[in-house]
Amino acid sequence: MVKVLFFGDPGIDDSLAIMYGLLHPEIEIVGIVTGYGNVKQEQATQNASYLLDLAKKQDIPIIAGAKGPLSGEFTPFYPEIHGEEGLGPIRPPDTIKGELLNFDEVFKIIDRYEGELIIVDVGRSTSLALAFILGGDQMEKVKAFYLMGGAFLVPGNVTAYAEANFHGDPIASKLVIEKGKNVRIFPLNVTQHALLTPAVVDYITQRTFNSMTPLVKPIFDYYFEAYKKLVPGIKGTPLHDVVAMSGIVNPSFFKYLERSVTVQLYGESKGESIADFRPKPEEEPVESLDRIAVQINYDKFIKDFMKIMTMTSPTSKLE
Ligand code: BDR
Ligand code: CA
Repeated sequence: MVKVLFFGDPGIDDSLAIMYGLLHPEIEIVGIVTGYGNVKQEQATQNASYLLDLAKKQDIPIIAGAKGPLSGEFTPFYPEIHGEEGLGPIRPPDTIKGELLNFDEVFKIIDRYEGELIIVDVGRSTSLALAFILGGDQMEKVKAFYLMGGAFLVPGNVTAYAEANFHGDPIASKLVIEKGKNVRIFPLNVTQHALLTPAVVDYITQRTFNSMTPLVKPIFDYYFEAYKKLVPGIKGTPLHDVVAMSGIVNPSFFKYLERSVTVQLYGESKGESIADFRPKPEEEPVESLDRIAVQINYDKFIKDFMKIMTMTSPTSKLE
């Protein structure tokens, strides 16, 4: 099984990515680092904890990530898209407090799974950047980094130029991409096509397949209403963060380009992801190249999502 340390800000699509990871027979989530982003870090923690509780996976550690960007600037949250508590209309029970381990646990996990651990970061990049700052060489023990972020030569979603994760802390995103070895980026170019449609939701909620099924329709309905206002005529909701999780176990669903990526730090285009897409780009040292997913096989992606989300029990894979 692939060992995955998940960094995110659940959030609706983050939550669907966690559900997908918990249900997937080839993925073992070995820790969740919760950061600010769609909601406050404290709320992201409660939401992650709620999902683990539902899945009876309370043994998976939740680790305290960042509460704001490296620049110290104010950052907005997005209740209109993800709901006041980040799960659409659902409010995790007050009894779910969300026990947090301190950040050092990240390095314990990296040591424990040296050479095989995959880090997936589907939130603002701050917490992962801190891991590079605090951990130094230790980060070389990580096998690969899968990031949801960026928008290459296509419009952003929070500004005309930038996608939300890279815009939220561009200093951190740039640092992670520059320092990380084996970085794969899943930008809006692919995630905006990975739509969860009402028909798919009907299919995966036709009965209670697992303990998380009851969340899916209410969170989807909320997310879809928000997206219809943002993108008139849209046929479903983008499964941004699920795409990066799916990429870990389904590399063949994507077409990649290898380019050296950077992120714009300041000004109007803050958070813009940049790479050289000329037919004959400047030669770059191999170790500086990142893999950018530029095409997704939607049919295969969504069929796989339907298969995994209708699995009967997140615990059955261990039995
Ligand atoms: C990304 O921003 C967040 O709002 C989503 O959870 C996703 O990670 C999409 O731009
Ligand atoms: Ca996210």
